[in-house]
Amino acid sequence: MDSILVRGNGPLNGQIPIAGAKNACLTLMPATLLTDEPLTLTNAPRLSDIRTMTQLLGSLGAEVASLQGGQVLALSSHQIASQKADYEIVRKMRASILVLGPLLARFGHAEVSLPGGCAIGARPVDLHLKALEAMGADLDLRDGYVHAKAPGGLKGAVFDFPVVSVGATENALMAATLAKGTTVLKNAAREPEIVDLARCLRRMGAQIEGEGTSTITIQGVDRLGGATHPVVTDRIELGTYMLAPAICGGEVELLGGRIELLGAFCEKLDEAGISVEETAAGLKVSRKNGRIRAVDVVTEPFPGFPTDLQAQMMALLCTAEGTSILEEKIFENRFMHAPELSRMGARIEVHGGHATVHGVDKLRGAPVMATDLRASVSLILAALAAEGETVVSRVYHLDRGYERVEEKLSACGALIERIEG
Ligand code: UD1
Repeated sequence: MDSILVRGNGPLNGQIPIAGAKNACLTLMPATLLTDEPLTLTNAPRLSDIRTMTQLLGSLGAEVASLQGGQVLALSSHQIASQKADYEIVRKMRASILVLGPLLARFGHAEVSLPGGCAIGARPVDLHLKALEAMGADLDLRDGYVHAKAPGGLKGAVFDFPVVSVGATENALMAATLAKGTTVLKNAAREPEIVDLARCLRRMGAQIEGEGTSTITIQGVDRLGGATHPVVTDRIELGTYMLAPAICGGEVELLGGRIELLGAFCEKLDEAGISVEETAAGLKVSRKNGRIRAVDVVTEPFPGFPTDLQAQMMALLCTAEGTSILEEKIFENRFMHAPELSRMGARIEVHGGHATVHGVDKLRGAPVMATDLRASVSLILAALAAEGETVVSRVYHLDRGYERVEEKLSACGALIERIEG
C-alpha cells in the first residue's frame, strides 16, 4: 500500500489547476443510462472513484471510453445487457447507488446492491428509495440488494425530502426526467453538483426548473438524447488547496476557482485572517503575517460550510491563535482525523458531534494513518506545516478523490513524495 512522505518546508508559492468535480462526475456518468445516444463529459477528473464508476457502468453493458488522458469520457448505453449492479463493485463506492434511478426510469426494473463507501457513519439510502417509491416504484430489499420494479414506468410525484440529501436528490432528479407527468422535489439539495447535473440533463432534452433552489420541478419526457457537457470545477479540491497557503504561508493561485462555489468557506477563511482574491484565472490565496485566528465552524448542506472540508479546516485550526469549535451536522463519526492530528501535537477534544481545537504554536511530523478520503488530505495539509517528517499511510483513500496531489503541491515548493509499497 502506498504512503506519502511530507517534510514541512515553509511557505508555498505558485499555481494549482483545479480539476472537474469528482462528485459531479460520479452523478453525470450514470446519466448515460437514461439514453441510447452518446454522452460526452469533458473536464473529467482522473481518479480511482471514476474508474470504479467506469467499471460499474461497464458491468451493465455501457461503453465508457477514457480519452485525452482521462479528461474526456465518452459514454454510451445503447446496449445495456444487465440491470444488476453487483455487490463486488458497489461495495467499493457508495455513489454506485446513483445507477438505480436511471436504470429504473429507462428499463422499468433494476437490482442494485446496498452500498459501502467511506466509514463516516451510518449513511443509509432510505431517502433514495422513498423518493423512487413516491414515483411508483415497487421496491424489495433482499439479500443485500434493492430489487426495484416499475413495470408501467415511473410516474411524476411530489416528494418532500425530510433531510437534505445530495445523492437522493440526484437519483430522484435523474429518474424523474423519464417519469410520466410532473415531479416536484421539495427540500432538494442545492449543491453546485446538482445544478451541474440538471444542466447536463437539460442538454440531453430533459425539462427541469429550479435547480440550485430547494424546489426542483421536472416535467417528464418520453426519451432523452445525447449531449456533451463539461464537468463543473471541484469545489472540495479547490477548498483543500486554498488551505495549503493558509496553513503554510505564501501565495497560491487556484486556477479555475470561483468564490460562489465556496461562499461560506471563504467567509471563514476571511475571519481566520486569510486573504482570498478573485483573479482573471481563478482565486489567489495568501497568508502573509502572523498566526491565523481561531474560528468556529458548523457543517451544513450547501450553501453552508461543506462537511467535505471540515477535516482540512481542522488541520488549519490546529495552529490558530485561540480555541475553535467545529460542529459536524451532516455525518456522525466524521472526526477520525482528530486522533491522527493529535499524534502530530494538535490539542483536540471530541465530544459527539463537536470537536474543540486548542491552537498550538507548531505541529510536529509523525507517522499517521489516513482513515477516509478527506481525513487523508487533512493529514497532508497538517504535515506541510509541521516540523520534521510525516508519513501518511493508507493513501488509497486519497487517490479516490485527489488527482496528482504530490505533483500539484510540489509545483508550489512543497517537499512531498509518494512511497510505493
Ligand atoms: C454526497 C457527497 C459527499 C458529501 C455529502 C454531503 C457524492 C458522491 N458524495 O454524499 O462527498 O460529503 O454529499 O455533502 O456526491 N441520508 C439519509 N438517508 C439517505 C441519504 C442520506 O439519512 O437515503 C443522510 C446521510 O446519512 C447524511 C445526510 O443525509 O447524514 C446527507 O447525506 P447525503 O447528502 O445524501 O450525502 P451523499 O449524497 O451520500
